Amino acid sequence: MIIAIDGPAGSGKSTIAREVARRFGFAKLDTGAMYRSVALAALRRGVDLDDADAVVALARGLSITFGSECHGNVSVFVDGEDVSEAIRTPEVDRNVSAAAANAGVRAAMLAPQRLFAEGRDVVAEGRDIGSVVFPNAELKVFLTADPRERARRRVLQRHEGEHVDAALLDAEIEQTLADIERRDAIDSQRAAAPLVCPVDAVRIDSTSFTVEEIVNRIERLIAERR
Ligand code: DC
Repeated sequence: MIIAIDGPAGSGKSTIAREVARRFGFAKLDTGAMYRSVALAALRRGVDLDDADAVVALARGLSITFGSECHGNVSVFVDGEDVSEAIRTPEVDRNVSAAAANAGVRAAMLAPQRLFAEGRDVVAEGRDIGSVVFPNAELKVFLTADPRERARRRVLQRHEGEHVDAALLDAEIEQTLADIERRDAIDSQRAAAPLVCPVDAVRIDSTSFTVEEIVNRIERLIAERR
């Protein structure tokens, strides 16, 4: 069975996919991590992200793999190096949309994404999972949330376990909100596989629900589809 979870940045896809994977024993595929890995490699090697052909050549040569779970997150490896933390920096956040808007990069990611799901149950999260990667997924969920709430979640996630002054947090939430809105606009308006809600997807607004409530809802949907 394949469960596709699509939605904008910070809508809760990763958390929900992780909990679904845990509860039902599915493998979790984080496709955003793959585009982040391409952006990181380009930044590190000095490849201009606006040079479409150079970025495609770079992406084709990368080996992106997923490792075992650490604190509920699946590690990401590029050419054998664990980049799980390196792909989550604000610099990668700012540059990843350019890598993801590149049609050649998207084409290069498609085969490994489909290969990952061969012969096993998978919950895959991204922007084009239900529309392009797995159009025949048994269950498609489109997760949304109020933009300010999404920014707040991203900032709290970034500072998990740290004490940060409330005024600094507020300022960071404002900055993150602007970044999220900019990234959503690029992801939704690009020509190649833009962020869309597939017609056959179940739309869930996560703003005022707990993770458990949403996973319970998905559990009922899985039972219906099986
Ligand atoms: O989900 P995320 O924030 O890690 O995604 C990083 C970027 O990659 C984001 O700009 C959207 C893009 N992306 C995409 O275009 N298609 C996907 N299937 C997953 C992510």
